Parts: sequence; structure tokens; C-alpha cells
Amino acid sequence: MDETIINKFADADVLIDDVAYQKINEQQDSIKFTESLINHLGIHQEGMLILTGEMVDNYLENNQHPLKSDISSSQTETSSSIIEKTPPKVDEYKPLAQNQLIKDSPFNFQVLKDASRKSYTNGEIKDFSAYFSSRYHKLKEMLQRKKDLKSPQPIQELENVQDTVNLIGMVNNIRNTKNNHKLIEVEDETGTASVLIHNENHSLFEDAERVVKDEVLGVLGTRKGSLVLASELINPGTPRIDEKPMDFSVVFLSDTHIGSSTFLEDAFANFIKWMNGEYGDAEQQKIANNVRYLVVAGDIVDGIGVYPHQDKELTIKDIYKQYEEAARLFGQIEDVQIIITPGNHDAGRLAEPQPAINEEYAADLYKLKNVEFVSNPSLVSLDGLNVLIYHGRSFDDFAMTVKGMSHQQTDLIMKELLEKRHLAPIYGERTPLASEVEDHMVIEEVPHVFHTGHVHINSYKKYKGIHLINSGTFQSQTEFQKIYNIVPTCAQVPILNQGTMKILKFT
Ligand SMILES: [Fe+2]
Repeated sequence: MDETIINKFADADVLIDDVAYQKINEQQDSIKFTESLINHLGIHQEGMLILTGEMVDNYLENNQHPLKSDISSSQTETSSSIIEKTPPKVDEYKPLAQNQLIKDSPFNFQVLKDASRKSYTNGEIKDFSAYFSSRYHKLKEMLQRKKDLKSPQPIQELENVQDTVNLIGMVNNIRNTKNNHKLIEVEDETGTASVLIHNENHSLFEDAERVVKDEVLGVLGTRKGSLVLASELINPGTPRIDEKPMDFSVVFLSDTHIGSSTFLEDAFANFIKWMNGEYGDAEQQKIANNVRYLVVAGDIVDGIGVYPHQDKELTIKDIYKQYEEAARLFGQIEDVQIIITPGNHDAGRLAEPQPAINEEYAADLYKLKNVEFVSNPSLVSLDGLNVLIYHGRSFDDFAMTVKGMSHQQTDLIMKELLEKRHLAPIYGERTPLASEVEDHMVIEEVPHVFHTGHVHINSYKKYKGIHLINSGTFQSQTEFQKIYNIVPTCAQVPILNQGTMKILKFT
């Protein structure tokens, strides 16, 4: 392999697979081609930086029809053709006033966990160690509730252990040995240990493939010289919970990206009409009438300067005006309590936990009496239904590092986060994490609903009684997504309607 090509991509934060490498290497001047491709990828915004052969083919094709001159016209065509081709799923306006009682009873809304006020750091080294110590102790406590891990052995004392080992450690490093076994280095407050997972132990090896850096896990096994030969890896885990009965409905949104030229304004206007009971067939209006809460899991606006040349894809180029427009739109929603968390496109601190969107940027939204701002992540109670809201930045890290995980199936990643009891275990990669004195990303309470966004692709699964919801987007395919063949699921709104999932598509 030509190291120059690999290194150039590595410097640009892009990983390339074998097929992509072959295709690039076949080019007449592969170095020049590499540079031009990296230059072209400069418009990427977040995550998904694994370059495949298909993407190289797309780039080659686009090069014959230069993208820049095509952007404005092709985008408009794509958007309008999607809207025209999709038959409207909702009928015309039919006024209705069923179930008014559900909507009219007072809201029982509580913020159970919000890092906005508790979150602070001055970036000193002692905070860094306090942060990891907080994570370790919170998760160790959960692991110690398991019968095999009640009294874990301190790693320093392992050399005195004759037979079985049980320890609780944070993962420092994971690698494959020459013979393709897995070697995981774990650490506790007393030392580090190397844990070997034999590749002939298939189910354990599968478990080990889902282990990520900086998670906290339990290890059972035996001591073999300086190594621990693992027989079991134990997550803090999530118990099965009883589903929460509910006679009302909750609507979940994320990634509206107001201010972007790809924001689906018409579909969103119809969504607002539906929320107000002024759009849709009788059944759809009945659902609207049951809605008491609307949760928005971040990226409400497209932001400014989030990625290079973003201004070319904005219709509103001022962050204050983007939030003014958001206030104008969300301000039309009546009789519903709205809860908004920030995402990585919103104004404010990027490092997670992200404090609630700052009033300074979103003054008009703050004037709305039915809107509550909370941190990312946060835990809220909606008439007793506990909803864990997390934008989903750590999906990027999982999609890049864990075999079988992708942005297309965030439910698989959400399950893993619940089992690891941490929303963003991998430190120092794509997810910026603030080294607070306390780790607020630990999932301390098991929620009834786990709501995320960020990837612009809807997903829904029920797992151990918990509703796992990714609420997609109101933004049509962006230039970045076209290059990477990411197909967003647009304007598909998940509604937990009296405990049952419904997805309404707006056009
Ligand atoms: Fe996002």
C-alpha cells in the first residue's frame, strides 16, 4: 500500500477501506486525485468518515458533472420531486374536538436530571482524573449489585490470586493479538491488567467485539501468568422494566435544522397544522388531540460555522435569526408542553453534557410560555413517563469503531449504551466530552423512553420494555449526505400514542 495516500487521508481524518484504496490507486495520478478528493470532502459536517469504493465512484461521477454548478438546481429538483412523488398521507382540514379532556388537564412535567446548572469545569488535570473516577465509581456500584462481582479483587492483588479472578475495570486499550485473540487492558485504582479473550470462545469473543475504550466492565476468569483469561465479560446492564401505561401521546422531533436551505418548510408547516388539530384524517386528528408533550432532541437550527462553507447551504445566515424563525414556527403550537435540548448544531458549548440552549441566542423561543429548555442529555418526567433525551453524537464513535454498528440502525447502538449504562463512553474521539468533576453521561436511572436524533434516520425498537426512538429529521438530503450515500428519512414523526408507536409522514 502507498503510505502517502493512507497518510494523507489519515491527516484529513478520513479512513479508507480496501476497495476505495484500490480505486484511488488505479488513478493516473493517485496523489493528485487523493488531494482533490480530500479537498472535495472538506464540505463534510460530522461523522461518517469511512471512505468506501462506492463513494469514490460517486466522486468520479460527480467530477464529470461538477457539483458546484449543480448544487442549487439539483437540490431544488430533488426536494420538489420527493414532495410531488409522495402521495399526501394526510387529508384536508376537518375541525374536530375529541378527547379535549386529555389535552386540557394540567401538565405534570418535571425535570429529573439536567446538567445545565451542575455542569462546570476549568479544564485542570485534577478535573480529568475526578471525571474518570466519578465514572468508574458510579458504574462499579452498579456492577457490584451482581452476585459474581460483589467483592471484586483489586488489580494490584491479582498476583496473589490462585484460581478465579473477578475484577471491575475501565478499558484502557483493546487490540487483536497476532493469533487473532482479543487483548483488553483494564484499569482500576490500584493498577492495570491484561485480559485475554480466546477466539475459540465464540460467544465471549462476540461480546468482546462490542467492548469500547473507556467503558467500565466486570471480568470473570482465571489467572494465567501475567494475563487474565476471561470466561465472562459483564456489563452494568439494564433490567427489563414494566411498560408505563399512558392515556396521552408524546411527539418526538429532532434535527429540524431551521435556517438550512434543505429545511423542509412546507412539511413542517403541515406538521404544525396537524399538532393543532387542523390537518389530517379523523384518526390522525384524534391522535393530535391526545398530544400533551413535544420533545425536541437537538439541532433545532442549522447553526453557523458548524462545518466549512456551511454558509452556502443556509437560507438564514444569522444564528439569532435562525432561533427567531424557530420561535415563529414553534410559537404556533398550542396547548402542548414543548421540551428542547441542544444538539451539535445549536448555539452554545459543544462539549457534552451540553447546557440548555442559551437565552441570549434564543430570546424569542424563551418568551414562549410552553417551552422548557434542558441540557443534552437530560431526563424528564411527562405525567410520570420518564424520557431520557440524548442528541446522539456518540453514535459516530460507535459506528466507526464497533463491528456491525451503523448510523442506519441506531437502535443497536442505543441498546449497547443502555447495557453499558453510559451515553458516550469513548473519550477523545468524535464526541467532545467535558471533563467535569462528575460524569453526567452515566445512565443512572433506567428510563421508559430513550429518545435520540443526530443521524437523520428514524428508528424504533422496544427493548426490555423501553421505547428506543430516533426521530429522524426535517431536513432533506444535504450535499454531504449525497457524497456519502446517506439517505435521510425526512419528516417522519414518531408519536407514542397512548403507549403505541405511530409514525406520521408529512409532505
Ligand atoms: Fe446532530
